[in-house]
Amino acid sequence: MRGRLITIEGIEGVGKSTNLAFVADRLRAAGCEVLVTREPGGTPVAERIRGLLLGAERLAAMTELLLMFAARAEHLEQSIRPALAAGRWVLCDRFTDASYAYQGAGRGLGAAPVATLERLVQGDLRPDLTILLDAPPEATLARRAERGENDRFEREALAFFRRVRQGYLDRAAAEPARFRVIDARLALPEVQLALANVIETFIEENTISE
Ligand code: TMP
Repeated sequence: MRGRLITIEGIEGVGKSTNLAFVADRLRAAGCEVLVTREPGGTPVAERIRGLLLGAERLAAMTELLLMFAARAEHLEQSIRPALAAGRWVLCDRFTDASYAYQGAGRGLGAAPVATLERLVQGDLRPDLTILLDAPPEATLARRAERGENDRFEREALAFFRRVRQGYLDRAAAEPARFRVIDARLALPEVQLALANVIETFIEENTISE
């Protein structure tokens, strides 16, 4: 059985880390062997590219997009594809939908260059399931402030995150079969109940179809 690629997306401060760990636990409890990883990053070289991307220097939007895909190419080749081929499930904290949302919508590059690189770098590989934790950026301000805003993305203004959120919602609307959108403004137990349902249903569907 080939593994499945599950991605988790959302703007900063929606509770992605806590919920990622929760999803990983549910998958393991169901007997799946899971690789938990993240983008940009996930391999030593891709983590170094991450350092460049989040570091203090200014980057042109196109440079940013190309570096995201350079890191992704490395991550796919070294880590994601081998894991899937070995039948492991891969749970990835962000993937290409983040490039559509942040570089395409947020930075204003549009979807076309992202789609070109997606075909070039990924071929036919797409996530099997994408969970979008959705909240307006106003609602995540407190959580972002608590953490301290210190990387190049976290310092962006509200207008940027509004465009990013809309970029994600447009992706979800265009591909309803792949996306599950969860309201991240709900209390944590409610978010996790919704997540547990999504994962349980997905596992059922994917076990039956094998
Ligand atoms: P993280 O804080 O969730 O680890 O993500 C690092 C930052 O990288 C986050 O601000 C979103 C951004 N990002 C993009 O802009 N494009 C991408 O394709 C990915 C994967 C992340």
